[in-house]
Amino acid sequence: MDKKARLARLQEECAAYFNELYAPDQKVYVFGDGDPQARVMLVGEAPGAQEALLGKPFVGKAGKNLDEFLERTQLKRAELYITYPVKFRPVKISDKGRASNRTPTREEIGLFLPWLQREIDLIEPQLIVSLGNVPLQALLGRRDTIGQMHGRVISDARCGRPLFALYHPASVIYNPSLREVYLHDLDTLKEVLRMERPVGQLDAPRA
Ligand code: URA
Repeated sequence: MDKKARLARLQEECAAYFNELYAPDQKVYVFGDGDPQARVMLVGEAPGAQEALLGKPFVGKAGKNLDEFLERTQLKRAELYITYPVKFRPVKISDKGRASNRTPTREEIGLFLPWLQREIDLIEPQLIVSLGNVPLQALLGRRDTIGQMHGRVISDARCGRPLFALYHPASVIYNPSLREVYLHDLDTLKEVLRMERPVGQLDAPRA
């Protein structure tokens, strides 16, 4: 079975597992999308409203924010594989009954982690780029923060693959003082990707 078919089967298994767990909640799942042979895997936080509506990662405002990432690193969306640690939209409901995004809970992240790991093991990316604290801590297996870890290749992450930590593009919009650091990190990432035998040398055994 090729990677595409194996991915489809993994997604089916994952949906069946969570439908059992969360029924009758009827959550909408947004699975990974992109090239199953990708060299770079991008891991965001969790789907937002547009992503849940269209069933694809990074298509709403988050997708727009991603354009700068693509332009600056000269990566094409089609050559990436993009996924989330938590594959449904975490929401909170206001007093007025309005739903808005919230950060996934530790429990949600923990429940999805084995599925994310299987996804990584299947794609076998040379480099994982995490956006923000949620995927960073899930993939690292420790609670180091993005402020400490951004902008370099981390070779001892629990996920068993080299990891490059970036601030989440949305956080740069909310906090413009991060912008310069974020752009510098994108330039570093571009360099890392350009290196000969890019990050294979940095591959570390899983902790
Ligand atoms: N929406 C996305 O598509 N990704 C995120 O990481 C957060 C919100």
